[in-house]
Amino acid sequence: MFYPSYRPRRMRKNPQFRRMVRETALSVDNLIYPMFVIHGKNVRKEISSMPGNFQLSVDNLVKDARAVHGLGIPAVILFGIPKTKDEMGTGAYDDKGIIQTAVRALKDKVPDLMVITDVCLCEYTSHGHCGIVENGEILNDPTLELLAREAVSHARAGADMVAPSDMMDGRVGAIRDALDEEGLDQIPIMSYAVKYASAFYGPFRDAAESPPKFGDRSSYQMDPANTREAMREAELDVAEGADILMVKPALPYLDIIHRVRDEFDLPVAAYNVSGEYSMIKAAARLGWLDEKKAMMESLTAIKRAGADLILTYWAREAAKLLHE
Ligand code: PBG
Repeated sequence: MFYPSYRPRRMRKNPQFRRMVRETALSVDNLIYPMFVIHGKNVRKEISSMPGNFQLSVDNLVKDARAVHGLGIPAVILFGIPKTKDEMGTGAYDDKGIIQTAVRALKDKVPDLMVITDVCLCEYTSHGHCGIVENGEILNDPTLELLAREAVSHARAGADMVAPSDMMDGRVGAIRDALDEEGLDQIPIMSYAVKYASAFYGPFRDAAESPPKFGDRSSYQMDPANTREAMREAELDVAEGADILMVKPALPYLDIIHRVRDEFDLPVAAYNVSGEYSMIKAAARLGWLDEKKAMMESLTAIKRAGADLILTYWAREAAKLLHE
């Protein structure tokens, strides 16, 4: 009787063998936890479309960040909800703004936790777009100056790294120049290099109160159908001085993560976005799947595809499981 000489099941026989030949290991070191900060005192408002995530006032942000640090998670990324929004998104580059205040508090109270700030205007503009709007158009070059001011303001407040997510052309270079001019040449840039115009950001826009008031973001974020263009976007950001390249979202774009990993030698980050989190949460609540298993499978798949770093709302739960 013919049997193949190699039988894959031999090495799947028991947990010990499976552990020995496992190719991908997720580590707490890979995780970045996104947090939302809002004005006020003792605010802890759950985001209804993202159970387990909260808009936090600075006091509670510090409290939760301590716990995040205690779990061994190396970094958080901050998103701010300003008191007021206006045409030019002035709250974004106000040295006394919500992010700047939060960064100062975190660096004072939990200094070893790396604080990354999301650099964008959409949370701060009355129209909800990521750039300056004129006659219904999102202007590119005038926006760069504001993004650069925002990044400098975050770094001056003590941010360890800035992460531009606006998708304006040339913003990594503009931010790099502005940081360098201010003597902030040691502040790295994690670029949302390949960011698609995705429906999976839906729950985030509840969390950050940032949905666009007209139109959508397809004139600046990428078309989900495109791969070659993703390589061009990454190439530009490398040339402009990015330190880490991010792909976003993660799960529907594992092929893109893989290609960016193959073609570039910078660290690659992937953003496991709000919709990816919420759809599994919702299915788990209905009893349709096991949340912990689906979470670990998702994060492992993102790592397997080539991500070194994963931004995920599951960071705390995953860290707990990894410590067990
Ligand atoms: C800001 C920004 C967004 C996300 C991160 N930064 C929203 C958007 O572009 O509309 C989405 C994150 C998520 O969905 O978890 N531009």
